[in-house]
Amino acid sequence: MARLAAVLVIHGPNLNLLGRREPGVYGTATLAEIDARLRHLGAEIGVPVTCVQFNGEGDIVTAIQGAEGRYQGIVINPAGYTHTSVAIRDALAAVGELGVPAVEVHLSQPAARESFRHRSLVAPVCRGSVSGFGAQGYLLALRGLAAQIGGGGA
Ligand code: DQA
Repeated sequence: MARLAAVLVIHGPNLNLLGRREPGVYGTATLAEIDARLRHLGAEIGVPVTCVQFNGEGDIVTAIQGAEGRYQGIVINPAGYTHTSVAIRDALAAVGELGVPAVEVHLSQPAARESFRHRSLVAPVCRGSVSGFGAQGYLLALRGLAAQIGGGGA
């Protein structure tokens, strides 16, 4: 019997403001719109998608830890914590070794922005990364991850 692959999407700090937050950088889609598109794609390819957003680093660590046993993969935009959080990196490394791979997403292209955004602490512990494609990047990440974890029609 085919394994049912479910994916947890984690949005980091300030992404709750999408649509109004620096639209020239992050686009005009709201987080609710992005989540709806992700759930729609998930339904299309047979991968149930759950989306959460947290502003707090500890909440994100707790969500990553809680993915083990419930989800087969994580799509994560750690937002500002991408560049600072050893704790989020360590949580992703831990669940990655326990069989829950993650894909990192950024709406913008951090490598083309300020130098403090050039380093990602999470990239080395993620299966892959998608940056610079705006909201579309989340959908690309979901398709890529689904293909890796054996999701439906991906
Ligand atoms: C971001 C890029 C980060 O540098 C920034 O701190 C964010 C959003 C992106 O999606 O482009 O909050 O992760």
